[in-house]
Amino acid sequence: GGDDKEKISVTFVNKDGTEKTIRVPVGMSMLEAAHENDIELEGACEGSLACSTCHVIVMDVKDYNKLEDPTDEENDMLDLAFGLTETLQVACKTILYYGMEGVLIHCAILCKSL
Ligand code: FES
Repeated sequence: GGDDKEKISVTFVNKDGTEKTIRVPVGMSMLEAAHENDIELEGACEGSLACSTCHVIVMDVKDYNKLEDPTDEENDMLDLAFGLTETLQVACKTILYYGMEGVLIHCAILCKSL
């Protein structure tokens, strides 16, 4: 543990444009990463894919295309989310990995404490 090579940089961007860049261990979900770093991304069902409050927007389509395609279950959940865009992701089910170094994640609802 503690090896920084096992981490990537991820930047959360709030609705008002505030940015916060954090170092995140690969293998962690976006939601966990946010919460570990005191970013209050919504996540009402704590990652059980039963709400849609944790959805985020991956701003760069290049980054988005690196992600696994959403499962049908995830798509159902995203259909419930307002402001649906093509690059919406369910943060609690999106695992961060090496290829996502530098990804910009926009908080679709609100990151209260950025
Ligand atoms: Fe509920 Fe992600 S926390 S769907």
